[in-house]
Amino acid sequence: MKSSKPVILTGVRANNDIHIGNYFGAILPIVDMAKRRSADFDINLFIPDLHSFTTPIDHSKLYDSILSNARIYTAAGLPLDKPAIHLYRQSRVPAHSELAWILDCFTGFGEMSRMTQFKDKGGKIDIRSVAERIKKALDAQKNDDNILGRMELMQLYNELTFEKEVSVGLFNYPVLMAADILLYGATYVPVGDDQTQHLEFTRDIAERMNRKFGDLFIVPKPVAEQHQFFGNDQGLRIKDLMNPTKKMSKSDDSGKGVIFLGDEPEVAHKKIMSATTDSLGRVQYDRDNQPGISNLLEILTLVRQDAGKDVSLDQTISQYTGMERYGDFKRIVADEVAEFLANFQARLAAVDEEAIERKLESSERDMNLVANETLYRVQTAVGLRR
Ligand code: TRP
Repeated sequence: MKSSKPVILTGVRANNDIHIGNYFGAILPIVDMAKRRSADFDINLFIPDLHSFTTPIDHSKLYDSILSNARIYTAAGLPLDKPAIHLYRQSRVPAHSELAWILDCFTGFGEMSRMTQFKDKGGKIDIRSVAERIKKALDAQKNDDNILGRMELMQLYNELTFEKEVSVGLFNYPVLMAADILLYGATYVPVGDDQTQHLEFTRDIAERMNRKFGDLFIVPKPVAEQHQFFGNDQGLRIKDLMNPTKKMSKSDDSGKGVIFLGDEPEVAHKKIMSATTDSLGRVQYDRDNQPGISNLLEILTLVRQDAGKDVSLDQTISQYTGMERYGDFKRIVADEVAEFLANFQARLAAVDEEAIERKLESSERDMNLVANETLYRVQTAVGLRR
C-alpha cells in the first residue's frame, strides 16, 4: 500500500488564533514546500488535533478550529487536487494513539522529564528565572510602563498556577509526536527549532525499537541534514510589536503586539501604528539596537512578497533606510499589512468547503491503510499479533 516515494511530514497545532508570525514562519513555508516537492515526495500534512488539548482549551471551539486549520492551508495556496499531498486529521487515524501507547512503554520517565518544552510549560520551575522576570516587571513599572509590568506579572502568575495542573498528555506529547512520524516512515520532518528535541527523541525511540525488535521503523534524518535539505533560513521570525525582542506569540495576553489573521484590517492598522520603536529617529535595519523598526521592515517585506511582488528584505531595507519620520514609515507598513489581511480574509472566505471535506476524507482513508500497516507490524513485533 505504501508508495515508494520518500515522505515529508509535518503538522501545525490547531488553534483559532493563527497570527502573522505563524503564517509567514510556518504555514506559508510548508505550503511552498508541498508545492515544490510533491513530484518527488509524499507530503503528509496533518492537523495534530490530539495535541490541541495537552494544555487547557475551550473544547466547544475545537471542531471549528480544526477545520479552520485546513481552510487556512487552502487559502495559503495548498493545492487540494494533488494525490501526493495528504491532508488529514490525526484523530481520524486511530493508529496514532495506538502506537503512542506502545511507544510509551519503551520510553523512560526521566527521558520525558528532560524535554525542554515540558519543563518550560509546566515542569520544574527555575526560581532564578522567576526572580528575573519579577525584576523585569518591577523595572517596567519603575519606568512608568505599568501595563507592560502588569502583563508580565499576570503571565508569570498564570504560568506558575498552571504548574500544579500539568497533564500527563503534555508530559508525553513527544511520544505521540514520534508515533505521528514513524507510522508513515517519514524521512524529513520540517519543524521549528522548538521541536528539534522532539525530533531527536523520535530518532532515539525508533532506533531503540529497531535494536530490540529488528527493522521496524524508518529513522528520520538527523536534524542537521534536515536543515541542509530545507535550507537553514527557517523563514523570518516575526517579533511581537509591543516587545520586539520577543517572538510574536499568541500567549501575549493583551493581543496588542500580535496581528491575528482574523483581525479587522483597521485594528491591525492601529496595532502597527502603535508598535514600539526607538528614539534614534532614523530607519535602519539593526536588530540589536532598533528591533522594532527592523521587525517592521521584515513584516513589510513579507506582506509584499505575499502580494506577489518579487522583493527581498535587502531591497526593502535600502528603500527605507535613512527615513526620519517613523510615523510615515509606520503608515506605509500599516497600510500594506491591512491590505494583506483584507486579501487573505477574502481568500479564506472563498475556499471551497466541500473540496476540503472531500480532501480530508480521502486522505484519511488512504492514511489509515498506510498507518495500520506499520501498526500491525509493531503489534506483531511486540507479541500482540501473529
Ligand atoms: N509539536 C508540533 C507543534 O507544536 C506539532 C506536531 C505534532 C508535529 N506532531 C508532529 C510536527 C509531528 C511535526 C511532526 O508545532
